[in-house]
Parts: sequence; structure tokens; C-alpha cells
Amino acid sequence: MAISEQLARTIIDPHAYSRREIVDEAFRTIRAESPLDKAEMEEFEPFWVVSRHADIKEIERQPAVFHNGDKSTFITNRDGNERVKALTGGEPNLIRSLVSVDGDEHKALRSVVFPHVTPRAIKPLEEAIRGIAREFVDHMLGFGGECDFAQDVAFLYPLRVIMTVLGVPQEDEPFMLKLTQELFNNADPELNRRRAELSPEEQLKSLWETTMELENYFAAVTKRYRENPTGAINSLIANARIGDDYLNHRQLMGYYIIAATAGHDTTSNTTAGAMWALAERPQLLRQMQDNPEAINAFVEESIRWEVPVKHFMRSAVSDCEIGGQQIRAGDWLMLSYQSGNRDESVWADPFEFRMDREQNPQIAFGYGVHVCLGQHLARMEMRILWEELFKRLKSVEMSGAGERTISNFVCGPKHVPIRFAVN
Ligand code: HEM
Repeated sequence: MAISEQLARTIIDPHAYSRREIVDEAFRTIRAESPLDKAEMEEFEPFWVVSRHADIKEIERQPAVFHNGDKSTFITNRDGNERVKALTGGEPNLIRSLVSVDGDEHKALRSVVFPHVTPRAIKPLEEAIRGIAREFVDHMLGFGGECDFAQDVAFLYPLRVIMTVLGVPQEDEPFMLKLTQELFNNADPELNRRRAELSPEEQLKSLWETTMELENYFAAVTKRYRENPTGAINSLIANARIGDDYLNHRQLMGYYIIAATAGHDTTSNTTAGAMWALAERPQLLRQMQDNPEAINAFVEESIRWEVPVKHFMRSAVSDCEIGGQQIRAGDWLMLSYQSGNRDESVWADPFEFRMDREQNPQIAFGYGVHVCLGQHLARMEMRILWEELFKRLKSVEMSGAGERTISNFVCGPKHVPIRFAVN
């Protein structure tokens, strides 16, 4: 039996994600009644909804059977898919980045940056990141007792960290923030390019304009770093070669864009969501002040809790069986990280924010060959921010209602109003 149309529409509705309990409830039903089943809606190509933790892993474990790049990597309707192909000359994704390529191309591209983002490779960045964290803690405390933590800290700190690692000058940060928000929050009138409700056609048009603006910016970056190479990640990308050749235009642009956008929005969403969770559970602050080691568990639980990347799509290359269902070659599948991170068979109380979990195999970074390239950096920068902030914070609570972005892809809290006192 297919997933009911009402449930299918809920789990792709950008507005539903802005009131997360609606989506959580829909997935709770899906996991209980039809954990791996088809969603069918007239304007969409049918797709399987993969809601269980184990099935998501099983699929990600087989990259030769489930491809990223054959169809759109995020949910788009039939019209949207056709328009993207028209714009790109036949490719199913506007941006050709690591998440939209497979096989040898993916391996070659990933190996350009991978050695530079392992836990050992990023360790030397710790002091510089701590300096940035202190700066933003000072900035926050400067508000004198109340701020919007999402806007005033969480959107800005990961942006500064990633831009420093990439080699983007500070004065370009507002531009990067604006374009990232346009890219990921197209359905949200507060954050999208036109600052208005957009039809799907207008959304795609503005996505394309944003992509072109980013490409113009990065064309100059390539020129600069080929003339003067440095150790910055953007310089590695500019000078990388597959065989004898530099990366082609779409590979280069895709790389810069994914690193510059996925590199902060995800972490910002998690940081904002973590503060929201803390401000509603003020006793956790004292626990972490008494035992700073607990900050690691706080970070891990906040990643599980927030799940900033809601889904990625895959398509089957050959027939196979997953979770008792027969998948056919060409089928499209939605891996719901939101649902996988609430799976009752993995966590006894998935709807509780808990720091005392013995194990937390959260799947918000994905799994397998595409697993998040920035996972260690993201964890490290969040841990450092909390270490620096909790040393100085006496108390924190919500001072108003938090608000989430209207989006079904990469998103999280956009307003987290808090009241705080310092030691
Ligand atoms: C809490 C923060 C973050 C979360 C939750 C997150 C989540 C994800 C997810 C779900 C994927 C897809 C994994 C899969 O298909 O199995 C991914 C891929 C990726 N992420 Fe992250 N991410 C975060 C932070 C970052 C940061 C800081 C960077 C930049 C350094 C980054 C760069 C990337 C890249 C380049 C990929 C593509 C990897 C590939 O396809 O091989 N992410 N991330």
C-alpha cells in the first residue's frame, strides 16, 4: 500500500518543516505503518520514502546500486526537473557538486579536500577557531541580556569559521550569507531572493540567478588562487587536477558552492537549534559547567535533534530488495534523515533531548561514501563555541517564541529569542 497522499504532501511541505512537530508526527505514522513505501502525487515522479535508520544506512552502503547523480538529489516536481535540464543542458541538478556525482568522479573530487578535513588535519585550526568563538561570545554578551541567538550568533559564527578555512575575506561574508540563504530557503519569503512568496517557476528562476551570481564570484577566486596558491581550501580546489586537467567549470563551481554554503548553513541551524533546546532545559547548562566533557554529548544530541539536512534523494541503478520491498532500476528514493533520527527502534525516546544517551548513532551527517565531508569541523567548532560561552553564562531561557525556516531541504531555526545572565 502506498503512503497516503496527505502524508506524502506533509513530508515535502516547506511550511510543515517550519512547525516541525507536524513533520515528526507524519513520519511517526509512516515508520509505524509503511516504513519504506511509495509516495505518489500527480505532479511528482513517484518516489520511495525511506524512513528507517537501518534502511537509510543499507542504501548508503551501496553507492554502486543507488546513485546520487542520475536524478535530482532533492525533491523537485516533474516541471522543476524538466526546467533544470533545460537550464543545464540535460543534467538533473543545477549544481554539479560532490553530492550530485558518483563513482570515479566522486572519488577523485572528494580526495581533493578529504585529507584536509580529517580530525588530525583540522586539529591545528583549534586555536584560531577558539579566537573566533571568543569574538562571537563577546558579541553576544554585548547585547546585555537579550538577543536573537539565531540571527546574532548562530548565523554568523560558522560563517566566519568556514570562510576562514576556505580563504574568503571577511568583507565578503554578508554576500556569502545572503546567497546561501537564497539557495537553501527559496520557499521562505523572509529569506529568499525576491523576499516574497514565489511560485515553483519563480523559485527555480531565482535559484538559477543565485547560482550564476555565485559562479561570477568564484570565477575570480580561481584566477586569484591559480596565480597565487595558498593552503586555503579554495586554493586546493582551484589548483586540483584530475589526471592532467584542472577540474572542469561545473566541477569547480559545484565544489566552491557546496563548501561555501553547506559549510555554514547546516552548522548554523544546528547551533541555533542547540541553543533553543538548552534555553528550554536550563538545567543542562549547570551539568555542562560541572562537567565540560558533557559538551560532546550535547553537540551530538543537538545534531540528532536538529537534523539540518532533511533529506537527499537517490536513484536505483538495478533491481534490488531493501526493507522487504522490491526496488526497480530507475526508481527514485528519498532518504529522510529527519525520520531516521527519530527512529524508535534506535532510540527509546527519540522525541526527548537527552545528553545521557549511552549511544547516539545519529545519521544527520549521512553515511557511506558521501558522508558529510565537514563533520569533524562542524563538531569541533560547535564544541569550542559552547566551551567558550558556557564559561561565562550564568543562565539562559527563551524570551519569546522561536521560529523555523520555511523549507524542506536544508533548514532550521531562524529566530531564537533568548534572555541570559552572565557570571
Ligand atoms: C552540523 C553540520 C552539518 C550537517 C548536519 C551536514 C550534513 C550533511 C549530509 C547529510 C550530507 C550528505 C551525506 C550523505 O549523502 O550520506 C553532507 C554532505 C556534505 N557536507 Fe555536510 N553537514 C554539516 C556540515 C558541513 C560542513 C561544516 C561542511 C564544510 C566543510 C560540509 C560539507 C559537506 C560536503 C562537501 C558534502 C558532500 C560530501 C559528498 O557527497 O561526498 N558539511 N553533509
